[in-house]
Parts: sequence; structure tokens; C-alpha cells
Amino acid sequence: MSVPGFVPLATYREFSAQEMVSRAKSFRDEMLRRRTVRQFSSRALPREVIEDCLRVARSAPSGANKQPWHFVVVSDAEVKTKIRAAAEEEERRFYHERAPKEWLDALAPLGTDENKPYLETAPYLIVVFAQHYEVSSDGRKMKNYYVTESVGIATGMLISAIHIAGLVTLTHTPSPMGFLNQVLGRPVQEKPFLILVVGYPDGEACVPDISKKSPEECLTFT
Ligand SMILES: Cc1cc2nc3c(=O)[nH]c(=O)nc-3n(C[C@H](O)[C@H](O)[C@H](O)COP(=O)(O)O)c2cc1C
Repeated sequence: MSVPGFVPLATYREFSAQEMVSRAKSFRDEMLRRRTVRQFSSRALPREVIEDCLRVARSAPSGANKQPWHFVVVSDAEVKTKIRAAAEEEERRFYHERAPKEWLDALAPLGTDENKPYLETAPYLIVVFAQHYEVSSDGRKMKNYYVTESVGIATGMLISAIHIAGLVTLTHTPSPMGFLNQVLGRPVQEKPFLILVVGYPDGEACVPDISKKSPEECLTFT
């Protein structure tokens, strides 16, 4: 029976229980190799990979299917330099003036500071914007729903896709990020969500020796 406005679920594929267990394990193993990297190589990579990973992000679920995001892919050296300069200026103030001691203590194991060379070194920066409302052709504001949740899910899917493709990412949130609207010419209804630095790791890259919570600490089955 067909219902107007609906189509059959043609995309779903069912797997046997055994296949499901094996697929879940192999995805788990792939994803457990993901790390945030802060030392990037300048090695070029195919733009098609970025396009495909963004295709995954754009397929994400979103509140009322509003898809309240905009992704700006930056590879232009001059634009990257502008972003680095503005981010380092904000971060200098953050690390030396604005950040409370508790926040700095939480960041200490990561070894981060105001220097962000990767914003110029990495071949791609994907700047994710969260669109809080849209403006119709006759100038009306149309609200988006569950914007943060939706953009967070899309970004998680993007990070996963980039990792599965064989690249690394750094989620960077310079505080505050308003300068990104100006540098990238995005409208006021779009708030910068984060910068995803994308590329190959530098051959000498190291990552902090940190761990994840145990199931007992963060997981309940009832
Ligand atoms: C919302 C968010 C903001 C982050 N902002 C920064 C950042 O500005 N600079 C940075 O070096 N890492 C940043 N990170 C990366 C985290 O420090 C990193 O994910 C965390 O230490 C866990 O390490 P892992 O990703 O290797 O598991 C951010 C991560 C998230 C999810």
C-alpha cells in the first residue's frame, strides 16, 4: 500500500546475527584506532575524499530534517593564514587571561597552548557552522530545531568518515570563534560550531597518553 509522501525503505540491509556481530566488531576496532592529532603533514590528498566524507555528514539525522549546518572547506593558503592569525590571537587571550584555572588544569594533559601551526600546515580545514534560523526569499526568519544536537551528530559522522578513509582530524574550538563569520563571509544566523583540521599525521606525530571511561563509569543497561 502506498501512502502519499512516503516511499518504501529501499536502503535498509538486514544481516544475519553472526554478520551483525562481526560488522559491529570490525567497526568498533576501526573506530578505536581514531585519535585527535595535533601534528599534521602538509601532504596533499584527493579533494574527492573530503567531498565524500561531507556527503556522509550531510546525510545525518537532524531535528525536523532542517539540516541546520553549513560546511566551509578551506584549502586556500591565504585564508588558512588569516584563520590561524585570528585563532591564535583569541587563544592567547584564552590561555593567558580568560581561562579559569580549573579549565587550564583539565587541558594540561593534552599539552595544548595558543600556538596552532596545523591551521596552516594541514591541507584542509572544514569549518562547521550551525544555522540557528534560515531566511526565506521574502525575508522571513524560519527557525531550526535541535540545532546543537543535529550539528553535533553530523560532525561526529564527518569525523568517523574521515577516520575510516584513512586520514586524521583535530577538533578545534578557538574561543570565541566569531572571527570565522568575517573571514569566511558567512551570515549572522550561522554560528561557528568548530574547525575540523584534516590531513595526514606528521611522521613524528605523538598523542597524549589518555584513556576513556570504563563501562562501569558511563554505561548502564537496564
Ligand atoms: C567539542 C570539542 C572541542 C575540542 N576543542 C579542542 C581544541 O580547541 N583544541 C584541541 O587541541 N583539541 C580540542 N578537542 C579535542 C579533544 O581534546 C580530544 O578529543 C580529547 O582530548 C580526546 O582525545 P581523542 O580525540 O584522541 O580521543 C576538542 C574536542 C571536542 C569534541
